[in-house]
Amino acid sequence: MANVVVVGAQWGDEGKGKIVDWLCERADVVARFQGGHNAGHTLVIDGKVYKLHALPSGVVRGGKLSVIGNGVVLDPWHLLSEIETIRGQGVEITPETLMIAENTPLILPFHGELDRAREGQNSLARIGTTGRGIGPAYEDKVGRRVIRVADLGDRATLETRIDRALVHHNALRAGLGLAAVDRDALLRDLMAIAPEVLRFAAPVWKVLHEKRRAGKRILFEGAQGALLDVDFGTYPFVTSSNVIAGQAATGTGLGPGAVDYVLGIVKAYTTRVGEGPFPTELHDQDGQRLGERGHEFGTTTGRKRRCGWFDAVLVRQTCVTSGVNGIALTKLDVLDGFDTLRICTGYDLDGQVLDHLPTASDAQARCVPIYEDMPGWSESTEGARSWADLPAAAIKYVRRVEELIGCPVALLSTSPEREDTILVTDPYAD
Ligand code: GDP
Ligand code: IMO
Ligand code: MG
Repeated sequence: MANVVVVGAQWGDEGKGKIVDWLCERADVVARFQGGHNAGHTLVIDGKVYKLHALPSGVVRGGKLSVIGNGVVLDPWHLLSEIETIRGQGVEITPETLMIAENTPLILPFHGELDRAREGQNSLARIGTTGRGIGPAYEDKVGRRVIRVADLGDRATLETRIDRALVHHNALRAGLGLAAVDRDALLRDLMAIAPEVLRFAAPVWKVLHEKRRAGKRILFEGAQGALLDVDFGTYPFVTSSNVIAGQAATGTGLGPGAVDYVLGIVKAYTTRVGEGPFPTELHDQDGQRLGERGHEFGTTTGRKRRCGWFDAVLVRQTCVTSGVNGIALTKLDVLDGFDTLRICTGYDLDGQVLDHLPTASDAQARCVPIYEDMPGWSESTEGARSWADLPAAAIKYVRRVEELIGCPVALLSTSPEREDTILVTDPYAD
């Protein structure tokens, strides 16, 4: 398989960063295709922790080309500071190792301000966003008033673009009680960073096409998770982009045939940050234990993640919407020591059994999980690197997950460390 897409199959934070880092040894290019610095991807290599938000997780392994595709929304100031941070950890980023699509929309300070103002307005408006301006930037992209990377190359164009955006934003800001944007200061600030950003700008669609023709392998790195997808997620409590695997093509400029294998990243239980429905959420000691053992605090905002049992209904559904060929099951070690593990196999909606999550919000809220109980295991799976190291009950749990979601396990992860990974079927094998 030449090109693999990695996508989150739940509500994000499944461990995509760790798996992308592990897999990219086999790839030549790592490309982000949606989302922005709302993502927080953690890599642990020999005890050293790297937290990536806008940069693809391939940057840490030398010798790979990292790409930010047009489907991403990019905060240029954040990008430059993230490059500095990662440089401080010994990773050099140069135009040879990082390329940014020229048609990538920019997140500007007023996007973040609008995001946070809306979140603070009242409980009806609240989504529980990361406050990083992701939604407002995507709105501007679709509204045909966003400023893109290529616009930084010409002052006159940039001025026109800023004025166009501000016609909309200043009217909106007045309604929210925010001061008008200082146009000249914004122009000055953008002109000041333009050369630093433009160093990395490239016609990514063309570069990727040429890489493919030369037989290079592309690893597409998804952010968020399928249940946060703007079409197929728990709308309106979603992010503002398409997250599912189909987006890998439009978010980089390759045709759908460029994708050979879709790897869904699945946490062995369920978590979610922010508002919205979560049928298997736990408010008891088990939920607390999952959060503590799994260190379930957001990488981007530090917020406590909500925790619950594994929901096979949701993952079965997201394996379909992303066309998942195999999954990487992560954080199995967090389940060590539970007497009993519960798996949700269906929902009871007003006395009727459902095998999928209904679309209507009111119906989602009324879904009561139907559980199947499985015996837990007392042995430690932490750091296991082969099937032989796993207790029989853990293997049974994994096999039952595969059966219920209708998809095989390709990789298993048993700690945050890069090498604590069990390869079952290589997504890159032909
Ligand atoms: P991402 O957004 O999908 O990349 O995931 P995050 O990095 O936000 O959250 C996953 C967290 O779990 C990170 O702190 C990882 O270091 C950690 N992690 C990844 N895989 C495993 C695993 O198999 N076991 C444990 N205990 N932690 C893991
Ligand atoms: P990674 O890539 C988990 C959630 C936010 C909020 C909703 C909308 O690390 O898995 P946004 O700022 O995108 O408008 O917020 O989406 N969210 C994530 N949750 N992991 C993420 O990324 C997320 N990115 C956004 O908490 O509920
Ligand atoms: Mg994360």
